Amino acid sequence: MKLYLATHNAHKVEEIAKILPGFEIVADDPEGVEENAPDFAGNALIKVRAIASCHKGAWSMADDSGLEVAALGGAPGVHSARYAGEPTDTKANNALLLKNLEGVADRRANFTCAIALVAPDGKESVCTGKCFGKIALAPSGAGGFGYDPLFIPDGETKTFAELGEKIKNTISHRARALESAKQTIGGCSK
Ligand code: IMP
Repeated sequence: MKLYLATHNAHKVEEIAKILPGFEIVADDPEGVEENAPDFAGNALIKVRAIASCHKGAWSMADDSGLEVAALGGAPGVHSARYAGEPTDTKANNALLLKNLEGVADRRANFTCAIALVAPDGKESVCTGKCFGKIALAPSGAGGFGYDPLFIPDGETKTFAELGEKIKNTISHRARALESAKQTIGGCSK
């Protein structure tokens, strides 16, 4: 069965294909859509709606994710990719986050991933996954992407970037949201 994924990121296609082995994942870039919703679920819905209208009768999926820091009132949140401005600059984002947390004892944070689905009958749903942890005092590790060198998941002493892909993919916000999406799709396909 085909599942259309709103992305231009080959890495995401690969990751989702591993978690949903019964599906042929087909990337469809939702070019030009404005992700202007106030939350992850809203932005994931904007993206999935943009492609689902072209794939009636099939499954369509989109995801949106980011980092929320308690002491910063949930920032960077939906602005995670461009926290330090345009264009996206991971090093600058991480540096700004550390600067904004200078002298702050409460380092609690979480990643959130929202996955929006449109079923073959047009029904929409959103599955959410979270991973809780804290922000390190300095970056460590070479793996992963984005804020991974700064995020220490609960129960661990190392950052996502140090723990590596295998461990990250069992506990991450994205893995949890995808697992929930898998249940939704499985339940609807029976
Ligand atoms: P996207 O929704 O996957 O495009 O992610 C938006 C932004 O959130 C990324 O550019 C990263 O800054 C941040 N982000 C999302 N997921 C992760 C993650 O697993 N590790 C590190 N940063 C992430």
